[in-house]
Amino acid sequence: MSIHKAARKITTHVLQAMKAKNEKIAMLTAYDYSIAKLVDQAGVDVILVGDSAANVMAGYDTTLPLTLDEIIYHAKSVVRAVEKALVVVDLPFGTYQGNSKHALDSAIRIMKETGAHAVKLEGGKEVEESVVRILSAGIPVMGHLGLMPQSIHKFGTYVVRAKDDKEADQLRKDAILLEKLGCFALVLEKIPAKLAEEVAKSISIPVIGIGAGGGVDGQVLVIHDMLGLTQEFSPRFLRRYHDLATEIKGAVSNYVKDVRSEDFPNEKEQY
Ligand code: KIV
Repeated sequence: MSIHKAARKITTHVLQAMKAKNEKIAMLTAYDYSIAKLVDQAGVDVILVGDSAANVMAGYDTTLPLTLDEIIYHAKSVVRAVEKALVVVDLPFGTYQGNSKHALDSAIRIMKETGAHAVKLEGGKEVEESVVRILSAGIPVMGHLGLMPQSIHKFGTYVVRAKDDKEADQLRKDAILLEKLGCFALVLEKIPAKLAEEVAKSISIPVIGIGAGGGVDGQVLVIHDMLGLTQEFSPRFLRRYHDLATEIKGAVSNYVKDVRSEDFPNEKEQY
């Protein structure tokens, strides 16, 4: 039996065991009760309440405007729906950088108010103190390296990261540091597949990739992207499993037609 099947609940320890047994980890984002319930029932291991909510739920250009209160609202909705998956919540921009006491306060609010199981934050050496302080409170931390959307204004573009030796070297060091500090897993976003595989092999914690190839321990996608709700976003790494945008528009235009033609509601659809 697979480790996922045998587990009643997915914990950080189950994920470690999955890596040790080379069982791939499936992670997806969710931001609300109804979708989280379906994602959990479909067998995903980890549900990320990502700060990509800023883009796909709120319509911002970047993830920066999302607030702690807003991610807490999304996370509470997700946690109410989930029975098996591990729920990880992104610490929004400005809630953990530069001041480890502030980082701990933010992480504690997430854990206390939402019932989630872990937090995720972006960065390596530069957020070391925050990682240590959050971990010291017994809160599991997932790292995130490579393309870090919260630093978009530093880099100016969402292109593939760590293509040159200097940046690749820093990423290797940061991955080892995050493992040493005690992070339970690491997301690598949009970096060369060869580098991601090398990092995944060099550390003992699970490495989850997005646009980082198949040589890592698991994959994550934004649910709106993989279901085809976001039509304008189509990077090379994205596999669309559905075309929900077309389906929803078709259903809604049929509804509009039926209302206008007085076909809806019919005899059976009234009291
Ligand atoms: O916010 C998010 O959805 C993420 C994933 C892309 C890993 O951080």
